Amino acid sequence: MPRSLRSQQWWSGKEYYNFSRRAWLRSEGFTADVFENRPVIGICNSWSELNNCNAHLRSVAEAVKRGVWRAGGFPLEFPTISLGEMFMKPTSMLFRNLMSMDVEESIRANPIDGVVLLCGCDKTTPAQIMGAASADIPAIVVTGGPMLSGQWRNRKLGAGTDGRKLFDLFRTGKLTEEEWCEVEGGIARSAGHCTVMGTASTMASVAEALGMTLPGCAAIPAPDSRRLTIAELSGQRIVDMVWEDLSPSKIMTREALENAITVNMAIGGSTNAVVHLLAIAGRLGIDLHLDEFDRISRRTPCIVNVKPSGEYLMEDMFEAGGVPAVMKEILPLLHADLITANGKTVRENVEKVECWNRDVIRAASSPLSPEGGTVILKGNLAPRGAVIKHTAASPHLLQHRGPAYVFENHQQMRELIDSPDLPVTADTVLVMKNCGPKGAPGFPEWGQIPMPRVLLDRGVSDIVRISDARMSGTSFGTVVLHVAPESAVGGPLAIVETGDEIDLDTEGRNLTLHVAPEEIERRLATRKEAPPHYERGYGWMFLQHVNQADEGCDFDFLRKCGPAK
Ligand code: FES
Repeated sequence: MPRSLRSQQWWSGKEYYNFSRRAWLRSEGFTADVFENRPVIGICNSWSELNNCNAHLRSVAEAVKRGVWRAGGFPLEFPTISLGEMFMKPTSMLFRNLMSMDVEESIRANPIDGVVLLCGCDKTTPAQIMGAASADIPAIVVTGGPMLSGQWRNRKLGAGTDGRKLFDLFRTGKLTEEEWCEVEGGIARSAGHCTVMGTASTMASVAEALGMTLPGCAAIPAPDSRRLTIAELSGQRIVDMVWEDLSPSKIMTREALENAITVNMAIGGSTNAVVHLLAIAGRLGIDLHLDEFDRISRRTPCIVNVKPSGEYLMEDMFEAGGVPAVMKEILPLLHADLITANGKTVRENVEKVECWNRDVIRAASSPLSPEGGTVILKGNLAPRGAVIKHTAASPHLLQHRGPAYVFENHQQMRELIDSPDLPVTADTVLVMKNCGPKGAPGFPEWGQIPMPRVLLDRGVSDIVRISDARMSGTSFGTVVLHVAPESAVGGPLAIVETGDEIDLDTEGRNLTLHVAPEEIERRLATRKEAPPHYERGYGWMFLQHVNQADEGCDFDFLRKCGPAK
């Protein structure tokens, strides 16, 4: 028997407001039969011209609507804020929680029975999933897909990763102004998110691994007609999900989160997925800890040969079979009997899938790396944890002890990094403080500290770098991130001094500051608090309520609450 629809609370009844809600909606030209027990499907659109990655989502929304109408639903598209990674200052991460609140409250406040989430750029996907998890009415994700592979002369370019590599050539005079200008025109050739396994591709894959998309959604390129096809099918499917009352909390169980972590490790996904998955878990009331990521990392081979860990781009991953082919390869490591958005189990979704290119999606028996892409470190320099993407690091630096060179903040780093007399060597460990959730503020992607020019000139292309910042998923290098607690709240990173010895032991999962405990205590006791970055508005609220990296940087008051009524 069909269940009663939430939207009927708005439409049905003899009160004045039932009449006026119907009448005012009919001002948009709808016939009266839209109120006759049709599931109202909100299409939550993060389209914006201030977010190039999501600039095509209006046409995706049209395809979703076709599917909703076809299945007997009533589609209503609505906007939320969008978070353009390239444009927002100080960082889009400052606003992820704000967008999640916009999504949640837009769903709660309106006559919506089910929702299709249209996202793409880095923070838009986790923000929508977090908001939908909190509202907990049936929801399906349609990501916008990766942009076309970048191209410069006869080279394919990965957005982000290759841009950064070529920028180092430009900085050191090995690329001319004219060549650099050509790169600018060819690296991002269409709407859609970045083309490497950066945060956007990772979170699209994670959404699929969670079971929140139709199978195969993540890797379809944005301009490919099949992107619109899957959007239409998702619109069709959400109507059934409403009748089945298949809500996010029924799909995103603890086991589904473990599947998502496993897939993140197998794809060499972005370190940012750790933060976002912790936040999503918090919304669902699931007690997830950093240790779980490390446990899963140790048992999961990294099999996806896509930049920055590998050689290929997302278009190649799509042609090789996409996330379903990855999941089939690591099926023994997954909870295979979980229900997903299409009403089928993980096993049913992937068992007939084939891999069409074994160099792009490797067999589990010949992986890129025997362990997952992201490793969790602990130790006296990161008592609550830190992360390193070891598959994008230099193997010879994964076990390394060296003297610290300290930047007190991002500004100081920028002023000094290219100075010709910076006293650093290939053994130096660069440390940058005050770049965490409260210190920066907003937890920006500053963690891939540029290589000092003096070292680039000597042919050194990587050294160990440590901070309490994040880094772009498109980045690479031996970069330790998310050090928690952050320096701005008195984490030990705050008291590191130039010349202190630091030991990075990736194998042993340790990050050690070789300073005596009593000296660490003495330095912490004399540490001075910096004044807050904001005294009013959203920034003030962020500083008051944001959690540390090991808790997902969500607001403390947004962790689990009940379903939308
Ligand atoms: Fe949007 Fe890279 S800038 S995904």
